[in-house]
Amino acid sequence: MDGTVVLIGFMGAGKSTVGALVAREADRPFYDLDSEIERREGTPVASIVRDRGLAAFRRVEAAVARELMARGRAVIATGGGWAAEPGNLDRLGAGATTVWLRVGARTALERIAASDDIRPLLEVPDPRAVAESLLRERTSWYAQAHTAIDTEGKSPRAVAREVLASLETDSWKWNQGRDPK
Ligand code: S3P
Repeated sequence: MDGTVVLIGFMGAGKSTVGALVAREADRPFYDLDSEIERREGTPVASIVRDRGLAAFRRVEAAVARELMARGRAVIATGGGWAAEPGNLDRLGAGATTVWLRVGARTALERIAASDDIRPLLEVPDPRAVAESLLRERTSWYAQAHTAIDTEGKSPRAVAREVLASLETDSWKWNQGRDPK
């Protein structure tokens, strides 16, 4: 996982959109963890959670993430719950850089409402209360990231530029695993 960049943060933080932009700009492979899970399992994340339960989804999520991260030198957008599962961040190793894309519950819910993806954890009578409580519970996990970037009021492109700039200041790690020239 040397040189791997792992984007973490709450649902609606923009991890997938920003991750794809960062990977394109840096000429690295991009993996979206939820999309990889859906491709392998042949079914949407929402169906996995509904049919097999959240604990089963977390097991699949951890296993697929481990496999993607072992490839090294990629940009990986995780799902909002991945970083908050005990053990997942610990297993990353020193060669990976974690970037927390920060978002508040209100903005997260606005962005989620504008997207087509179903977030099974928020399919509840009071999504605002659930989002606020999940965010509170998860913040200490997200805060373990090497870098935190605020996304409120910024375009994905602007956030991607900030991510790239922060990686350049951490360029020793960012360049690990590069083929010697
Ligand atoms: C989840 C976030 C989702 C997805 C699943 C669970 C979570 O990913 O993995 O619905 O627990 O926060 P996004 O963060 O991409 O929405």
